[in-house]
Formats: sequence, C-alpha cells, structure tokens
Amino acid sequence: MMLFRPQFLGRRIVPRISKRLLSSKQLIDIDLSHPDCNVTESIASKIGRNLHLVDHHPLHILHHQIREYFHDFECFDNLSPICTTNQSFDLLRIPPDHVSRSPSDTYYLNPETVLRPHTSAHQIDLLQQGHSQFLVTGDVYRRDEIDRSHYPVFHQTEGVKLLSSTNTAEIRDDLQHTLEGLVRHLFGDVQMRWNTDYFPFTDPSLELEIYYQDTAWLEVLGCGVIHPEVLANAQRPEAAGWAFGLGLERLAMILFGVPDIRLFWSTDPRFADQFRNYEVTPFQAFSKYPACFKDMSFWLTDKFHVNDLNEVVRDVAGDWVESLQLVDAFTHPRTQRTSHCYRIAYRSMERSLTNLEVDALQERVREDTVRRLGVELR
Ligand code: DAH
Repeated sequence: MMLFRPQFLGRRIVPRISKRLLSSKQLIDIDLSHPDCNVTESIASKIGRNLHLVDHHPLHILHHQIREYFHDFECFDNLSPICTTNQSFDLLRIPPDHVSRSPSDTYYLNPETVLRPHTSAHQIDLLQQGHSQFLVTGDVYRRDEIDRSHYPVFHQTEGVKLLSSTNTAEIRDDLQHTLEGLVRHLFGDVQMRWNTDYFPFTDPSLELEIYYQDTAWLEVLGCGVIHPEVLANAQRPEAAGWAFGLGLERLAMILFGVPDIRLFWSTDPRFADQFRNYEVTPFQAFSKYPACFKDMSFWLTDKFHVNDLNEVVRDVAGDWVESLQLVDAFTHPRTQRTSHCYRIAYRSMERSLTNLEVDALQERVREDTVRRLGVELR
C-alpha cells in the first residue's frame, strides 16, 4: 500500500497529522530536503502503515491482548509519530548530551522535530491534558544496526497510571503486580525476574525479564515510578504514578515464534494469511530462500558511524538485507588509518535472489557508501 506520492524532489506527501489523530485522508508535507533532515524516503514510507492496527497482523493481535488486560485504561493508538525534541527528550529529563539525541541514532526532520524514538514522547502531553491511566501504542523510529531482531521502525506500547498514593514503595508494588499480571496474560505461567535499571524519567527504574521456553532470559519491558520532575513538567506536581514501555515486535517474535523482524512488514500471503484476529498461533515457517554474503572493506573517515552505513545498505537493498556485520577491523601501524570489513547478508523473504541481482545491489552499496560516507574502498 503506497500512501505517499512524491510531490517534488525531496518532498513527500504523507498523511496529515492533526494534533491527535493520524488519518490517511488528511495530508501533510514532510520536507525531506531540509538540511538537517536524515529521514530517508524508505523510512518516510513507513509512516501511516500502523501495523498494530492492521487486521490479522500479529502486532495487532498482541496489541489487542495488551488492551484486553488493561481494559480500564484509555487507549491512544493513533498519535502522530512526528514529535518535538522537547516531548521526546527534554521534558523526560534526557540529558542534552545523551547519545539517543544524536542524529546517528534518531531521525530528525529538522533540529526541533523528530520521528519519535519512543512512545514515552507522549507521556507529558497526555498527563497535562488530564489523562491519568492510559496506553499509547505506535510506531517508533531509531537508526540502528541491521540484524534479524532490529529494524529502524518498530512499535511500542507505553502505559501510565497515576495513583492516589504518593508512597514510592506502594506505587512500585502496584507496578510490579500489574506487569507480572500482564506477562501471565500474554505468556502464561513463566518464570520472571526483576532487575534494577536506569531511565531518566523514572526513579526507581526496573526491567522485567522472562525465562521463556527454556531458552534464555529475555527482557520484556522497562518501567518505573515516574520521576517527580516529569510530573512537574506535565503541570501535575501533586501527582504520583508509574510508567512502562515495551516493544511489540520483540514480544510478538517470542509469542508467535517469528524468526525475522522483516516478516512483520511482509505482504507475502504465506505470512499475512497465517494469522487470525485475536488468536496467538505459532508461525509456520515457509521455505527460506538462500542467503548470499558479500564483503566490503574500506578506510574510515573521522566522522564514520556504522548507523550511516546501515542506512546506505537499507536504502539500496530495502528488505533484502538480512544483516550487516563487522567482520574485521585494523589500524595501519604507519598511517594510523583504520579499515573495516563488513559482511552483508542478502536474502529475500519472498523469493530467491539471482547472483546478478545481488551483484548489482552490492555494486550500488559500494558506490553509495563512497558517495555518501566519503570513505575509500580497499
Ligand atoms: N522509553 C523506554 C525505551 O524506549 C522504555 C520505557 C522505560 C518506558 C521505562 C517507560 C518507562 O515509560 O517508565 O527504551
């Protein structure tokens, strides 16, 4: 489904986002040609896909189950992913020099506007508007590595609850009890453990892990008691409560047994037709097409960041790239120049790629890496 039509170079028409609602009937301009914009066309094309709202989609099924558990919470499923840096970082006490603010990690439309890197970006507004018990679910955007469990667009659910008690221990108990109940609702009777964690917007902060199907401990969510300054920023200095955030893809991969995060974006009927609304059924693997590996070595520049390379590769190969891995690094003893060798795995979910196609992709990756990153191939 193509929601976007190019208007002129570097500009796309995407669904207009009113303050609260993203509806595909309304249109808004995103200016991809802004000098500070690092959002690519392939990323912009994901805005409005809203996989958590697509009938029969595993993310929708999971989302439904979460909503079912939090039946007395208000739900915001359709807030615009275009947020300010204020909403996404400042008001949440994320320090000015925090790495998550860097353009190597976050998609900027301009210096004050980002594609939200987490659904926490909505906490303040909703609290300020008087909501006290709510879920926010939506797409979030992060420049990230390429492998089977990372994709630059994924979905999160945020939960916030204000309590009448201002006693931190009581709030924390309510939080832990509630989230343990959520995990049992989703996964049945699993072993769980709590670890302390750190988030600037909560104090104390915790993470919850589960031991699922005798494989390993898996982190399922981050949470904590909302920091008083965050509540003060929302003009509710008298309030107290808890918040959590979880990644839907991560949980859906475990619950449904989906082995590769790209499958969630696939329109291949062998994937899409497997699921029925409101039922968690194990994913039936269909034949995997062969992967093809290509290596590329180059001398780095000072400002080289691997996320820029990830993006070049994604822009050329789209969902045909499965992973990108650093396989070798060395610094020349005399010149002190550093060289990296990356291995790219190309694999389509939908058919076998021909050698010719992969060679052409690799050639374009090499050219674009030089052109966009200024590195020197070896
Ligand atoms: N925003 C965090 C992330 O994306 C997740 C999170 C952690 C949300 C703790 C919360 C929270 O609301 O209290 O990694």
